[in-house]
Amino acid sequence: MAEFRFARRTRLRGGDELTAILAGSPPGVLSMTGGFPNPATFPTDELDEIAARLVRDDAAVALQYTPCAGIPSVREYLTDRQEQLQGRRPAGDELIVTSGGMECIALMCHALVDPGDAVAVEAPTYLGALMAFGGAEADVVAIATDEDGLRVDALAERLEGGLRPKFLYTIPEYQNPTGRTLPLDRRHQLVELCRRHGVLIFEDVAYRELSFDGTSLPSLWSLAPDVVLQAGTFSKSFFPGVRLGWAAGPRAVVAELAAAKQNTDQCAGGLGQRLVEEYGRAGGFERHLPAAQALYGSHWAALSAALTRHMPGDVEWTEPTGGFLTWLTLPDEIDTLALRADALAAGVAYVPGPPFHVGDAGRNTLRLSFSHLTEAELETAAERLAGAVSERAHSRSAS
Ligand SMILES: Cc1ncc(COP(=O)(O)O)c(C=O)c1O
Repeated sequence: MAEFRFARRTRLRGGDELTAILAGSPPGVLSMTGGFPNPATFPTDELDEIAARLVRDDAAVALQYTPCAGIPSVREYLTDRQEQLQGRRPAGDELIVTSGGMECIALMCHALVDPGDAVAVEAPTYLGALMAFGGAEADVVAIATDEDGLRVDALAERLEGGLRPKFLYTIPEYQNPTGRTLPLDRRHQLVELCRRHGVLIFEDVAYRELSFDGTSLPSLWSLAPDVVLQAGTFSKSFFPGVRLGWAAGPRAVVAELAAAKQNTDQCAGGLGQRLVEEYGRAGGFERHLPAAQALYGSHWAALSAALTRHMPGDVEWTEPTGGFLTWLTLPDEIDTLALRADALAAGVAYVPGPPFHVGDAGRNTLRLSFSHLTEAELETAAERLAGAVSERAHSRSAS
């Protein structure tokens, strides 16, 4: 048997949890694991028409390789869109097309992270980002959060103590995994702090367009385009199969990301780029996003009511105002990694808290996604999970 000599980074990135999420759950199990959009939000009729038209009339562009930074008309559209949605227009060399948010995270690692470099993250944070930073051999430094998200005072303390991260990775809206949103005053404090210390902010706006009531706070990039690199994605607001997003920020950083893209996929798929452009220019997002926002809002209302009805009194959860996710804190003595088998046996799946942390914190926490199940299923899922939690709490107190 040949012995394959895999790279060191294969042992550094972790990843079993993400693979498990993407693989789905066994039949009969109500899964609240993945941050997957609900397929009811996919605009299939319009896509059918646009895709057929592009293949028929635009094959030379849509089916061809594209420039590394994206098709010029698509960049123009994304530039207009930033201005329309975030009130600031990036210059031509301040935005590129990416193959989704995860690719932008990988590009940031390529462009900025040498082994041993410090990267600051929220505790807890997106699993995919933690894996990418680990794989890049970064020294990942966790910054404390509270019910309003990142604690800017905790970051300030670390920076004043000498921490010099290559960047701070943050998800200001409906954060993965907690569902929390950074309030406006903290946004101002954060950009001022990072400006003062010369720290680049890496802002991930994956869920930004999915507020339940259609409103949003100013993005960090719109407040401080000189110190913020924003990664956006169409995975949650359009559909993840398109694998498309953007990076917008200081031109020197954007130029390095575009150069790094030559080492990943060279260009995002042209067909997906043109689909987004045609759909967007025809007003597709304005027509369809309100229905998606209402659907997720109503799913959250159903899950929130079900948790209130079924969970023991000592279980707490976050109150998202958008996105797909809520974060539960169970009594200290309940280990959510161990509870998972009981929950699966009861017919419900969730993601335990520890993989979202640097190290082994968050053992009594877990993440629930409410995007995918129907409201009736969410009720049943909450009841099953509450049953598993209560049983474990009883058996712990009896032993
Ligand atoms: C916070 C966050 N960033 C990025 C991504 C990845 O997005 P994409 O599908 O565009 O790679 C996700 C997907 O779940 C996410 O939750």
